[in-house]
Amino acid sequence: MPTINRQVVKYCFVLLAGTILALIFGCTPDHPQSTFDTVGPVSQSQALIFYIITYAGLVVFILVMAILIYSAIKFRRRQNTDADPEQIHGNNTLEIAWTVIPALLLVAVAVPSLKSLFDVTVSPEPEAMTVNVTANQWWFRFDIPELGVVTANELHIPVGEVINLRLNSRDVIHSFWVPKLAGKFDMIPNNENTMWFQSDEEGIFYGQCAEFCGESHALMRFKVIVESRKEFDNWVQEQLTDANKPSDPLTQQGHDLFMSSEGGCYACHTIRGSKKAYGEVGPELTHFSSRKHLAAGIMDNTHENLISWLTDPDSIKPGNIMAKNAAVYNDSEKSLSDPEISALAAYLRSLE
Ligand code: CUA
Repeated sequence: MPTINRQVVKYCFVLLAGTILALIFGCTPDHPQSTFDTVGPVSQSQALIFYIITYAGLVVFILVMAILIYSAIKFRRRQNTDADPEQIHGNNTLEIAWTVIPALLLVAVAVPSLKSLFDVTVSPEPEAMTVNVTANQWWFRFDIPELGVVTANELHIPVGEVINLRLNSRDVIHSFWVPKLAGKFDMIPNNENTMWFQSDEEGIFYGQCAEFCGESHALMRFKVIVESRKEFDNWVQEQLTDANKPSDPLTQQGHDLFMSSEGGCYACHTIRGSKKAYGEVGPELTHFSSRKHLAAGIMDNTHENLISWLTDPDSIKPGNIMAKNAAVYNDSEKSLSDPEISALAAYLRSLE
């Protein structure tokens, strides 16, 4: 009997243990990005396909393995016999069976897959609220034209209602993914994709760019905040109001810097109600401090984090456009002083 290399056994053990650990920790339904904890019809229909294919595959796997192990044991070489086993050539019945059965299985899997493919692409309510989502390196712009609302990285939607999405990109290919609500959909420049989703539960659901789109791809996240119709309507009303005016000397100083050619922030960001700031290169900031996170979902929106972000955005999100293109970051002569950063932070935090 050949001895099995101990080294090989060790590697197999490590591989098996690693796979089991990955499965245990990767597939827990209460993980914020679990695709198994579905909260809406689109993710449910996609999860159903996963289960159908997995269980069908499991049955095939167990059958094939059982036959393999049975044959290996039953027809193993006996000791003290050198005689050749009985030689056979082909078996038409078996060959037809193992061609026809997999073909039927594939057809059986194709039926729900194709149905789901059309279900998730074609909205059941084309007249429902439509959100234009634009991907940027590395943040998401959400625009709801019929309500006049534009925001960034935190999309509010009403519970139990169909939301139609039009996906675009301003630069490279990204992918829109809210695991608990729907599978990934590519966001391609000059080639709009449409999808829809609906959440049957209130809550905050994590979204993430799911297509490698540059060095800060992993830092391109967003949140979908699902709330009651009433809360959603209130949120819309708040979004439609103009930005708060500076109310003390510090926020006034921050505001003036924001709107000045020295600061230059106004050129890329929109502050509703201001005559100067209507840039669209960077995220809309009218109600910046009402958002829970900053820098596209990667940090809590706190004073300390905002200071760190304004001080050195490139260390937090390498390669971002603000760090690359804004004079205050790429020209050491024009860098912001600590008091200027404090004033800017105070102004941004006053934008509720
Ligand atoms: Cu955008 Cu990855």
